[in-house]
Amino acid sequence: MAHQSELIAEDILEYLKSQEEKSMLRFITCGSVDDGKSTLIGRLLWDSKLVFEDQLAALEVDSKRVGTQGDEIDYALLLDGLQAEREQGITIDVAYRFFSTDKRKFIVADTPGHEQYTRNMVTGASTADVAIILIDARKGVLVQTRRHSYLASLVGIRKVVVAINKMDLVDYAEERFLSIKDDYETFAKPLGFDEITCIPISALKGDNIIAPSAQTDWYHGPTLMAFLETVKVDNMAAASPFRMPVQWVNRPDLDFRGFCGTVASGKICPGDEVTVTSSGQKSRIARIVTMDGDLEEAVAGQAVTLTLSDEIDVSRGDLLCDPLNRPAHADQFEAHLVWMHEEAMLPGRSYLLKSGATTVPAQVSDLKYKVNVNTLEHVASKTLGLNEIGVCNLSLGKAISFDPYQENRATGNFILIDRMTNVTVGAGMIDFALRRATNIHWQALDVDKGSRSAMKNQKPCVLWFTGLSGSGKSTIANLVEKRLLSLGKHTYLLDGDNVRHGLNRDLGFTDADRVENIRRVSETAKLMVDAGMIVLTSFISPFKSERDMAREMLGEGEFCEVYVSTSLETCEARDSKGLYKKARAGQLQNFTGIDSAYEVPENPEITVDTGESQAEELAEAIVRMVLGDDPVFDVPDGTER
Ligand code: ADX
Repeated sequence: MAHQSELIAEDILEYLKSQEEKSMLRFITCGSVDDGKSTLIGRLLWDSKLVFEDQLAALEVDSKRVGTQGDEIDYALLLDGLQAEREQGITIDVAYRFFSTDKRKFIVADTPGHEQYTRNMVTGASTADVAIILIDARKGVLVQTRRHSYLASLVGIRKVVVAINKMDLVDYAEERFLSIKDDYETFAKPLGFDEITCIPISALKGDNIIAPSAQTDWYHGPTLMAFLETVKVDNMAAASPFRMPVQWVNRPDLDFRGFCGTVASGKICPGDEVTVTSSGQKSRIARIVTMDGDLEEAVAGQAVTLTLSDEIDVSRGDLLCDPLNRPAHADQFEAHLVWMHEEAMLPGRSYLLKSGATTVPAQVSDLKYKVNVNTLEHVASKTLGLNEIGVCNLSLGKAISFDPYQENRATGNFILIDRMTNVTVGAGMIDFALRRATNIHWQALDVDKGSRSAMKNQKPCVLWFTGLSGSGKSTIANLVEKRLLSLGKHTYLLDGDNVRHGLNRDLGFTDADRVENIRRVSETAKLMVDAGMIVLTSFISPFKSERDMAREMLGEGEFCEVYVSTSLETCEARDSKGLYKKARAGQLQNFTGIDSAYEVPENPEITVDTGESQAEELAEAIVRMVLGDDPVFDVPDGTER
């Protein structure tokens, strides 16, 4: 290493100890290459003397080869580590860099500034205490300055440094600095930062980075490094009430039952009272166990195992918290949602929501508006595309415990995961719990599903037919219903084409409309099952997420997925409604199998292929299965789950 602390050679243990005791500041730099962002970070690393000798040598060679700074060193090259970046002159991902000075340790998140990297910036900023917003002194406050500032405030950053860069190119003019400062402060007022510090700098020349610049004798504030070294970080996590999501329950033998997790916020000591938010049960901390022995105290960020003095119910995903300062526990909330996937968000679709150690099904029940990240305007919208941010209500399959994000970052954030691909598609910050749900209670009725179905002498269920258009779903479902009726069963057939004439008349065939179509049908089927009926549904229902959602809405043994697996070729050859022909001719858009996806069921209860067997035979087999006369029956030419 080129210029590292002499202590390393003299007394490594002393050096490590001094490092351990230093406070840590996490910050993010916001700006684009044009603003001099990479040069600035390069300069900070360079001047904090944390550059390796081989990096130094490479840097000199690269600076000469690339030649952007004449014979001088191009600090930006220290950062633009990726070949692609160097060649295109842009930074393409979030990079975390660590450096330290005598006073502090730093982690800097360096994210690209372009709008198409909004998701990267949100990721990088979500753990930062301070944001450095770079402004080119020649250009002043730009659209991107607004966007970066909004995103910083959205993820809960309370302190910003506005680094007004390239002062050398405006002759270090005080008026220019003051006018930009004024513009910025006016614009940023509604964002509610606690502290805005404007510093005139030149990252390239080093003005006001480490040492005060002789060129700006009119400026009496801190240098950038002095600011970073001294800014007070109110450690929100440590100051917030105690929270710990239980990652797993450790029960090696009957005498020990420990709850393992990382303290998300606050602190805890043996003897302190804690509550399990899902049940409201209370106990006291008996021990704080770690690999290195028991602790007298655990604080935010520490991974520990807690034991309690009473045998109360605690399981994975529960949140242990301070009983005097409890989080919300609800199944609906409003949140700011950042969409992170190319495939747009679909309201009504069932995603998996992961918050802390809990994962539950969740739907965006209402997208109120999306935010134009450049102007902060609210825009009406039905969906969110990649990098878009919206304010929406979410409705969960099960209540979870959380805090508003602006009060507690650790327990107020969540991600949304696509059920089909397991990919993270969104990241959210919870605004507040919606009380609506808790004001509507289930009405206990004397006549229930059991009594209704007993009277009909049947076990209610849903036979969910799925398959391509023309695969034979309706034909088989119709035969099954006729047969059930002749056996004295009470049935109802919900059919795609028919339901779309009434209840779902307002829906077309976009992905969003299909999701809503199936959501309504699932709810209707569920009500009919509650009424004691045997329900048959015949919808293409092309997406796995919605079929899974329907399954989860119903009880064990009440949902039977029947995949009518007739191939596209066969369906198209039959083309009973002439729709395939139209779709091929481009007269019909979003046609399933042609230009809209069909996700094949992975684990249906029954698979039938009408291309190979007679519809009558298939229907008869299904009836036998439903009535349970012959539970291990063979579905002709089909496979049983
Ligand atoms: S679903 O995808 O939302 O489940 P649903 O089963 O209700 O679809 O409706 C499918 C029926 O609508 C098809 O059998 C066909 O008759 C008709 N239809 C009209 N346009 C389309 C289209 N673009 N894609 C699929 N089916 C269509």
